[in-house]
Amino acid sequence: MAIRPVRTIGDPVLRRRAADYLATDVTSESFTGLIDDMVETMHAEGGIGIAAPQIGEPTRVAVIAIDRASSRYPDMDDFPLTVFVNPRVTVVDATEQGFWEGCLSVPNLRGYVLRPRGVRVDFLDKTGQPKALWAEGFLATVVQHELDHLDGVLFVDRVRDTSKLATIENYLRYWASRAAQPSEI
Ligand code: NI
Repeated sequence: MAIRPVRTIGDPVLRRRAADYLATDVTSESFTGLIDDMVETMHAEGGIGIAAPQIGEPTRVAVIAIDRASSRYPDMDDFPLTVFVNPRVTVVDATEQGFWEGCLSVPNLRGYVLRPRGVRVDFLDKTGQPKALWAEGFLATVVQHELDHLDGVLFVDRVRDTSKLATIENYLRYWASRAAQPSEI
């Protein structure tokens, strides 16, 4: 296991559509090594999600883990560590909801992003088994943010009102509230 450098905005690897991961590879050492590195890097950086391109691997793998016990995100529901291989998102509730988002790959920035409030995700889990997840509320935003990374999309692309882009310092000074939870996704 190793903490890998997080690629940041401007790095072309974050802007490519990542390639499908070959399902037959999920038992390989390179797959388990990739997952271990992603989880270790996400925890070291204090994120609640990470996608493979963020550590320089242009493949369709992402991880999400939300731990309420972490003092940084006390208002969120727990979400156990989940590996998404080749995920596909379907909107099931297009009603828009907004959250302030942050990203390990966009240092020191927060932005207010509107996204559909309910999604279904079909994916392979870390053993290669097909799974489906229904997510709503903040978890739906986390899932959509994370899976956007696999298509070369960053949250800043989805900020419609660019007056709601802020440094973390200014986010905390002018915009922070319980309803607008920041997160590095
Ligand atoms: Ni991100």
